[in-house]
Amino acid sequence: MRLEGDDYKENHFFWTEKGDRLTVIGDYLGRLPSLKLLDAKKGEYVLDAGCGAGFIARKMALTGAKVFGCDRAEAMVQRAVETEKRCSLGIEYKVSDITTLPYKNNQFDAVACVAVLIHDSPEECKKFIAEAHRVLKSEGRLLISVTHPFVYQPESPNRTGKTNWAVHSPLDNKPMTENQRFNEIYTNSEGKQFSSTVWYHPIDFFPKALSEAGFSIVHEQTMYMTKEALEACGHTGPIGYPSFYQILTKKY
Ligand SMILES: C[S@@+](CC[C@H](N)C(=O)[O-])C[C@H]1O[C@@H](n2cnc3c(N)ncnc32)[C@H](O)[C@@H]1O
Repeated sequence: MRLEGDDYKENHFFWTEKGDRLTVIGDYLGRLPSLKLLDAKKGEYVLDAGCGAGFIARKMALTGAKVFGCDRAEAMVQRAVETEKRCSLGIEYKVSDITTLPYKNNQFDAVACVAVLIHDSPEECKKFIAEAHRVLKSEGRLLISVTHPFVYQPESPNRTGKTNWAVHSPLDNKPMTENQRFNEIYTNSEGKQFSSTVWYHPIDFFPKALSEAGFSIVHEQTMYMTKEALEACGHTGPIGYPSFYQILTKKY
């Protein structure tokens, strides 16, 4: 299939080239490493859980995998469906919460969950992990990618103001230790601030929850801030600190 114009961009360019600078950091250190790690293959059945507008789903479908996507945000799924209509890659989308996946048991070879679980409570994360286990075939792969919990700590450049790619401003300056909900403040590409309520999950939370649910850990990786990622979105600040975290597991 030949892709042109917007369709080409939808499939081959970072979202951030359309103006959202924050997302480019996520592209470099979250989305692309996640796609590489999950390594969806031609003919595999793959689920993009929390698919948003379908960026990850489309990238995986381009490998020849049969891709399904679901997200609880109707407007996001609508965007994904519109892109699919403009340039079909055979992806099937549903509006659904990932804590109750609308798919049969043992259906998928792989499940991707990228940049989703900071929006979910520990209970919701555990429900999703149990659901991913149910819908995966034996030895099926689950990949989770989240912002690294270090960026929410007081010593992180995001809290000390030494960087401007995301300025996190919790109300106090205490370290975070337990899973907790808090309000973070980001700066968008126009320099305007906006806030978002997210969950802090400690670094050992996902490995523990995944092991308890019947997954074995295949690979864990920390993505450190790079000059390339910062420069790509016109931001400044230190490099080399933990910024994103990915964990690849296998159902047993
Ligand atoms: C930052 S976007 C990431 C979208 C996509 N995974 C990507 O990387 O391009 C987060 C998405 O997760 C979805 N989400 C978060 N928690 C969810 C849940 N429990 N069930 C379904 N969708 C969820 C949100 O609606 C949102 O579309």
